[in-house]
Amino acid sequence: MIELGVNIDHVATLREARKGVDPDVLEAAKLCEMAGAHQITAHLRQDRRHVQDQDIELLSELLEVRLNFEMAAVPEIIAVAHRIRPYQVCLVPESREEITTEGGLDVASDIEHLRAVTADMHSHDIQVSLFIDPDPRQVDAAVAVGADCVELHTGPYANAHGDEAMAVALQQLQDCGRYVIDAGLTLNAGHGLNVHNLEPVARIPGLHEVNIGHAIISRSIFIGLDNAVKEILDVLDRCAA
Ligand code: PXP
Repeated sequence: MIELGVNIDHVATLREARKGVDPDVLEAAKLCEMAGAHQITAHLRQDRRHVQDQDIELLSELLEVRLNFEMAAVPEIIAVAHRIRPYQVCLVPESREEITTEGGLDVASDIEHLRAVTADMHSHDIQVSLFIDPDPRQVDAAVAVGADCVELHTGPYANAHGDEAMAVALQQLQDCGRYVIDAGLTLNAGHGLNVHNLEPVARIPGLHEVNIGHAIISRSIFIGLDNAVKEILDVLDRCAA
């Protein structure tokens, strides 16, 4: 079965709206875990707009499932990864102006730096995933860097307007997915996925993991967090059958 990483950033977004303690990020993560999520994903941004350092510390100490630590490859956050030792880091580009992660990491333009960061993470027993656009050039660069996995950016597919544009974006994901598997990397996907658009992505051969945040947290307002997680797991189950 394809594994589900639930991104809990937007539980923290809601808490930070009042700078208080509710809703509790750890409690939300535990609920996701109990509902069957295979991993929890959290992005400690440099501007700390949602997840805070203490959230990451608590998640790393108290989760039963894996922690996928999304991060920019910058010294300050690398030091946090050294301290908390997540199962996996997912390296993402980050700019202060963006509302959410906008494009994939340009691995091909930053090979030496990312190779050093990857080797450093490996020396701390941390697996490395790179969030990239579905572009074979970036896959080749991920291999050159020594990454374990790539997470294909599904945002352009999720945000495509009309069936034709969506089909083109899906084809790109399918073609690149095959390229990733042939290159010997683990294939993950994420961004903008929800209960309506997930199935075609989940049917990409060899897909290992999807990371889903905004749609699950949004849906939880109406049906509860455990049901929102289970709804996605049901889609993944159906695709595995
Ligand atoms: N994967 C990566 C690398 C991301 O940056 C994000 C957004 O933080 C997600 C997955 C989840 O995207 P969404 O919140 O749109 O489901």
